[in-house]
Amino acid sequence: MKILVTGGAGFIGSNFILYWIKNHPEDEIINFDALTYAGNLENLKSIEDNPNYKFVKGNIAQSNEVGPVMSGVDIVVHFAAESHVDRSILEPSSFILTNIVGTQVLLDAALKNNVKRFHHISTDEVFGELDLNDTNKFNERTNYNPRSPYSATKAGSDHLVRAYHFTYGLPITITNCSNNYGPYQFPEKFIPLAITNVIEGKKIPVYGDGLYIRDWLYVEDHVRAIEKVLERGKVGKTYLIGGMTELYPNIEIAKKIVRLLGKDESFIEFVKDRLGHDRRYDVDWSKTKEELGWEPQHNFDDWLKKTVEWYKENESWWKKVKSGEYKKYYKTQYEDGSR
Ligand SMILES: NC(=O)c1ccc[n+]([C@@H]2O[C@H](COP(=O)([O-])OP(=O)(O)OC[C@H]3O[C@@H](n4cnc5c(N)ncnc54)[C@H](O)[C@@H]3O)[C@@H](O)[C@H]2O)c1
Repeated sequence: MKILVTGGAGFIGSNFILYWIKNHPEDEIINFDALTYAGNLENLKSIEDNPNYKFVKGNIAQSNEVGPVMSGVDIVVHFAAESHVDRSILEPSSFILTNIVGTQVLLDAALKNNVKRFHHISTDEVFGELDLNDTNKFNERTNYNPRSPYSATKAGSDHLVRAYHFTYGLPITITNCSNNYGPYQFPEKFIPLAITNVIEGKKIPVYGDGLYIRDWLYVEDHVRAIEKVLERGKVGKTYLIGGMTELYPNIEIAKKIVRLLGKDESFIEFVKDRLGHDRRYDVDWSKTKEELGWEPQHNFDDWLKKTVEWYKENESWWKKVKSGEYKKYYKTQYEDGSR
């Protein structure tokens, strides 16, 4: 089977490729990625010489670049996106180009080449926010209510993917997952930002009152869920994927991280809140379990500890990433008050 992975040099995409090559060595993988600031081929160093793996640099929003790589592809697994909410607030236009236009360009090429499955990776953020004190969770019937430029563009892409199924009969599946954590996550996202800041002797910036709650999903659990959907998911369907964590507010996670690194709470500081910050996300993945026999296997505290260990052992990976453009972004976002 020939699989086209878009955004395979990013956090989740590279974890997916490493897992797939190990567990399905007979399949051929093409990693199509524009190598934006978030793409990093070092994540895939261990497999770069594998004859069943090939990297092609290209932009999903350019049909002349997408066309040639789609030829002969059986399955598309579409991760490529601008993925960081804070950056979407600073500069939404690249989110519209990549997340909406890019998805449409891929859908057209997939249709033209009769791919057998187009799997789209999306987020629980398309459903908006939940109140802190209610017990509702997002499920397959929750209405879309995106509240950031990022989630609005992901919602747009989900609608397009479904429209290509209903209008043109493209065989699609979609997964909407919660916040991932684990190895190779770019240190602009909360958990790797917090871990690497403390290792560098800097403080963890916690937005607002710190009482924001996410449903944390270990990246390997996510990757196994995608595998199940590709193997057993029903064409046209959407599956929700979440973790099995107790719902810790961000401030508690910051405290856990400083403790794991042997530091105290003076390493935590509250900073100006994110605009339009969603209070709480929580995913009901029981239907996915019922239909596909998938459930998360990694509990939060153990895997947070393992994730902290990974960042301790891979300083050279994240030190390279936390330079240049990253420093400029960090200053705008957390230090000079210009946002
Ligand atoms: N990280 C999370 O917690 C999370 C949660 C829910 C959903 N998602 C979704 O999962 C997917 C992967 O997320 P991630 O965290 O790995 O993202 P990431 O930012 O780490 O990686 C994105 C990858 O896409 C590539 N890319 C960006 N624009 C491109 C373009 N125009 N053409 C080709 N490649 C391009 C980048 O180079 C990078 O390698 C995204 O669709 C995201 O919306 C992520």
